[in-house]
Amino acid sequence: MAEVSRERWISRSSFVMAAVGSAVGLGNVWRFPFVTYANGGGAFLIPYFVALFTAGIPLMMLELGLGLKLQGAPPRALAGVNPRSEWIGWWAALIAFVITTYYAVVMAWCWNYLFHSFTLAWGPEAEKFFFNDVLKLSPGPGQLSGLVWPVVIGLLLTWIAVFLILFKGLGRVGRVVMVTVPLPVILIIILVIRGITLPGAANGLNFYLAPDFSKILNGKVWLEAYSQVFFSLSLAMGIMITYASYLPRKSDITNNAFMISLADAGTSFLAGFAIFSTLGYLAFVTQSDVSKVAAGGPSLAFGTIPVAISKLPFAASLFGIIFFLTLLSLGIDSLFSLVECNLGSVLDRWGITRTRATFFICLAAFLVGFLFSTGGGLYWLDIVDHWINNYGLVPVGLAEVITIGWIFGASRFREMINESSEVKAGKWWDFMIKFVTPFILIVSLIVTFYQEMQKSYEGYPVWSTFCGGWLVVIGIVIVSFLLMRSGKSTNKNIGV
Ligand code: PHE
Repeated sequence: MAEVSRERWISRSSFVMAAVGSAVGLGNVWRFPFVTYANGGGAFLIPYFVALFTAGIPLMMLELGLGLKLQGAPPRALAGVNPRSEWIGWWAALIAFVITTYYAVVMAWCWNYLFHSFTLAWGPEAEKFFFNDVLKLSPGPGQLSGLVWPVVIGLLLTWIAVFLILFKGLGRVGRVVMVTVPLPVILIIILVIRGITLPGAANGLNFYLAPDFSKILNGKVWLEAYSQVFFSLSLAMGIMITYASYLPRKSDITNNAFMISLADAGTSFLAGFAIFSTLGYLAFVTQSDVSKVAAGGPSLAFGTIPVAISKLPFAASLFGIIFFLTLLSLGIDSLFSLVECNLGSVLDRWGITRTRATFFICLAAFLVGFLFSTGGGLYWLDIVDHWINNYGLVPVGLAEVITIGWIFGASRFREMINESSEVKAGKWWDFMIKFVTPFILIVSLIVTFYQEMQKSYEGYPVWSTFCGGWLVVIGIVIVSFLLMRSGKSTNKNIGV
């Protein structure tokens, strides 16, 4: 019944591209290279690939399988496995919503920097420029000190773009990803070529990849590898479930899961060359050490790299523009994949038009984003992000593997996956889903929680981490239950 009216991808390739677009995001540029450098360089590739094959790809197969076989966004998909599991789907969707509210703000910063690239407005002290001029950072989370208008304008641009891409449906999404997926890869290749032809590049790359095998004996390095893989593949947010639900029920799962995951890993690896060759150059011109300039996250993207760009021998502005266009094109398809997860969940449940649902979701996320666009916004963004990643995503991933691996039955589910897959998943998959993935997720939950109890996160006042952290993650769970109780998203049942 629902299958007849369900929207479809215009081609298999537009599905694969959209999924790759979701996975390949800012994290590939500002997270992977730094995490690799800090956790053993080339040697880190061992835990990384182990994590990819023992947890990343198996969970990717699980999510693709769920969406495909149950033909629903997360709430409907999980309700189809077991009506009492519907709340897990809402949990994932609500997490996706919260992430969109601040992910879009990061993109707003990128718009600002794109604009400032024309004049290289940040000069030699980009980090100061970032905090003082772009963010107008207040002294602490208690002082919001008003909206920062250039950021709000960037935010508005971002949400208008997302609305325009999504409201028409998957046909347009399919066409957009044909641009937003290859474009950043081409731009990264340009940045790699620029980077490795600069003096000091080899030294930078040496820091990125020189293997330190002693590191991989450290358990924390392994946890880093797993969390990077989960984050990078956009798992446990319901995205892959939603995207796969628009495929016909007889589509391939294993091949697609491998393709998406390896494309993501490859892009991360490539981005590392762009980042570390540039860092090598920066160390060279400032006569410092690569370890002094190496960074990850916003301080890399909005501090270190802009400085290196301003020191380029020619066409510095152009490379600034290229770098921030890379970030924007990386971010946009990750952002709208999150929104699509919300959209799919809403449309599965309520009979409103896609245009209206898109409008209201974008508007709501835009308005919530105001909090992160104030002078104190960065603090709140940091807090919410930390809690959502550690106490939102990780438990959702855990709930997924327990529901499928233990309650539904891993081997039963694997048979369903194999029905339509060219390459058959073997018994190894059951083992990963039942034991390895839950084990890793539980350990990482315990370790982070233990650290949380030792000291307050980044020294923020307790009330702020309570409101921006615990209240948000617990509130989401409560709302998920309420949504499950108040109606049904299910239309069919594969039953427990
Ligand atoms: N996978 C994205 C990245 O590596 C991050 C992301 C997370 C995107 C969640 C969308 C949703 O940057």
